[in-house]
Amino acid sequence: MGYFITFEGIEGCGKTTQIRLLAERLKAAGRHVTLTREPGGCAIADQIRSILLDAGNRAMLPHAELLLYAAARAQHVGEVVKPALDGGNVVLCDRFTDATIAYQSSGRGIDRGTVDTLNSLACGGVRPDLTVLIDCDPAQGLERARRRIEASSGPREERFELEALAFHQRVRDGYLALAAGEPHRFLIVDGSGSVERIAAAITPQVSSRLEELHHAVR
Ligand SMILES: Nc1ncnc2c1ncn2[C@@H]1O[C@H](COP(=O)(O)OP(=O)(O)OP(=O)(O)O)[C@@H](O)[C@H]1O
Ligand SMILES: [Mg+2]
Repeated sequence: MGYFITFEGIEGCGKTTQIRLLAERLKAAGRHVTLTREPGGCAIADQIRSILLDAGNRAMLPHAELLLYAAARAQHVGEVVKPALDGGNVVLCDRFTDATIAYQSSGRGIDRGTVDTLNSLACGGVRPDLTVLIDCDPAQGLERARRRIEASSGPREERFELEALAFHQRVRDGYLALAAGEPHRFLIVDGSGSVERIAAAITPQVSSRLEELHHAVR
């Protein structure tokens, strides 16, 4: 069995930047790494991603949004995450089930039981071993995300960035509550520092968890 690490946090906290750095460092250390993301990570789920993040889809209802996330996840877990873990890889995923709890339950107000049911249906028993939560003030995260969107020539994936600050504050609080409930699974890092400083808080923790695992299976 491999090792499953997810990255979580509000828009612009630095997930994609940090997950790429970690992937490079783990590969340089000789690990077999699968780097993937949600929503998306495979062709069918990427098509669902474009519906979910298209700012033109403002009329999307919360339950439709939740079900699209679940559909994308079911495909991605079955096609990418589970086979990679079964093959012994370290799987790094940019957002996963905790994002659905933080955004669709804490943010949108869908009851937690419904979100949990769909998450377990989509995951078929796959659970993160470690979740890196990059905690960040929503005003700072949104400003970074806005700058990234303005600088990018790709599709404007900004449906969530256009939500009010209060929504993002509920999402942040939702993430922190999840982390408080599962302190062993979560590593909380302060997202307000430099890229290097945040990476320096993540890399040694991940390396020592992977070492522990190596000794445990011996
Ligand atoms: N620690 C940092 N300090 C300053 N800028 C940063 C930092 N980390 C990332 N950035 C920049 O901020 C922008 C957003 O970062 P990134 O794309 O990694 O965030 P994200 O959490 O993946 O966002 P999203 O949720 O929108 O995918 C990027 O332009 C990135 O270069
Ligand atoms: Mg990102």
